[in-house]
Amino acid sequence: MCGIVGYLGKNNTKEILLSGLKELEYRGYDSAGIAVLQGDSFESYKAIGKLVNLEEKTKEFTTDGFAVGIGHTRWATHGKPTELNAHPHLGESSYVVHNGIIENYVQLKTKLQAKGINFLSQTDTEVIVHQFEENLYDAKDAFKAFSKTITELEGAYATLLVTKSMPETIYFAKHGSPMLVGVNDAGEKFFASSDSPLIGLAKEVNYFEDGDYGYVNKDELVIYNKNNELVEPKFTSLATDKLSAQKDGYRFFMEKEIYEQSDVIADTLMGRLCDDEIIFDELDKSLFDGINEIKLCACGTSYHSALCASYMFERYAKVRCSVEIASEFRYREPLMSKDTLFVVISQSGETADTLETLKMAKNAGLKTLVVCNVDNSSMVRLADACILTRAGIEKGVASTKAFATQVTVFWMLSLYVAKLRDALNTDGLKHQIHLLREIPTSVIVTDEMHERIKRLSKRYLHGHGFFFIGRDVFFPLALEGALKLKEISYLHAEGYPSGEMKHGPIALADPELFTIALLPQHLLYEKSKSNVEELSARDSTICAISPINFDKADDFIPINVCKDYMLEFFEMMVVVQLLSLEISIRLGNDVDMPRNLAKSVTVE
Ligand code: M6R
Repeated sequence: MCGIVGYLGKNNTKEILLSGLKELEYRGYDSAGIAVLQGDSFESYKAIGKLVNLEEKTKEFTTDGFAVGIGHTRWATHGKPTELNAHPHLGESSYVVHNGIIENYVQLKTKLQAKGINFLSQTDTEVIVHQFEENLYDAKDAFKAFSKTITELEGAYATLLVTKSMPETIYFAKHGSPMLVGVNDAGEKFFASSDSPLIGLAKEVNYFEDGDYGYVNKDELVIYNKNNELVEPKFTSLATDKLSAQKDGYRFFMEKEIYEQSDVIADTLMGRLCDDEIIFDELDKSLFDGINEIKLCACGTSYHSALCASYMFERYAKVRCSVEIASEFRYREPLMSKDTLFVVISQSGETADTLETLKMAKNAGLKTLVVCNVDNSSMVRLADACILTRAGIEKGVASTKAFATQVTVFWMLSLYVAKLRDALNTDGLKHQIHLLREIPTSVIVTDEMHERIKRLSKRYLHGHGFFFIGRDVFFPLALEGALKLKEISYLHAEGYPSGEMKHGPIALADPELFTIALLPQHLLYEKSKSNVEELSARDSTICAISPINFDKADDFIPINVCKDYMLEFFEMMVVVQLLSLEISIRLGNDVDMPRNLAKSVTVE
């Protein structure tokens, strides 16, 4: 999704902006641009496609001494990915970059056009710069004009503006989309829409709250809050290591991240397992007092881990559990009762729809918990309690290790709640903890398994669709397997409960319909097997994933014999991830940055 960077200082402005944008690249974008103001002279460059195109265009451009600059990677929402629609957007003598959506841009644009203002792009963003310049004409003061402009915008935004009328200043505002500012001892100021561009440059950062606006110059960082009160920055220190992951010999980040799962799950378990107890130091047990229901809310892959969680909460902790897709929950006027613990799940902690549901739950007075991979993200800062998943930075747009650690957290959390509610006896709990310790082993990728999947993938590059099928927790895993395949192979795939196929989808069965059947030994094996046989009898091509050989399958991917269905879950998770990866590679797709997708979806 869109990314913002900004810089004020005397170092190499162009390089700082471009390398900041590079750090945001993994989030997904289709064009990029920068604008730099030095003295009273602006230079701006934009390019569609990858950042190398922008680097090429700016090859000859250099800055000398103090300058202010803003940069942007755009993921198209209003208007196609063209150079004209790329940010920064120009007024007469100001430039703006923006993340989010200006919902009332049509009204603003119509009024501005009626005054004779010419728009160059189809974007919502361009109204900000023209509205600012209109206000500047009346107010004759850039900050007054900027502040007024902000009050006229509706929607979600993070924005930076630079103007010749105040050439050594960057104006900023944040409402609904994340943004932070970093400072260092040399008086430089750095802006970004997430931490990574600032690591190694700024020691201290301030995460803006919704409604914050203000400006920076050489000497000042001035912040006003949503009530127009001057507030002090709340600095927190930023890690100094460059977290920007390298591929370390893997072909794609997604591949590396699949291989990392054993380590990151071990990290996620670390310090949280005792012999007969699950420990979450970050939770106060009173969070669960008076709770009769757990409601989980998320999008995409995180929604699938929420579905897995619901099976475990009901099975182990005997607590009623419901799961919601965040974009649906927002607008369906849901009933919320205070005996419900509201749990949001998000890799990024910034997904606009999920964040909004968290705000709704808080406003309704519910207790809230976030399971998240990014510390200091908007959701982490907003929720009453937080469990971090410790997956490390995930760069592949197709989520893998984040999902694995989310499910691990939920397995532990369901046992933690089970103990609080006396729903599991000590032996049962000990047994589960013993199983949890085995997850890191069950997700190790062996050469033999990877080779087998690689070889087999060539048979699945066509056809009229894939059905991933499973029962119980293997149904959300089927959904996740299908999502992975869709995202990076662009082949049609669906996840379905095995027992539901005969209620409609089986009509599609023929040799060109590929069924990826999840057949665990320890959960409803015979029932699932019958469902697969029904498909096999109708000539669907079957690829079975199971520890038990299945002679009705056209292809068979064995997993290890495990002690429990949850360990089978993790073994199969790796198989479906690798299968998608290998199909996508054979099709020649960009695995890490699939078309049309963004890593962090900060618009609704
Ligand atoms: O950061 P989040 O977990 O909130 O993101 C939610 C979805 O956008 C995300 O899981 C998406 O579905 C991934 N591309 C899946 O691979």
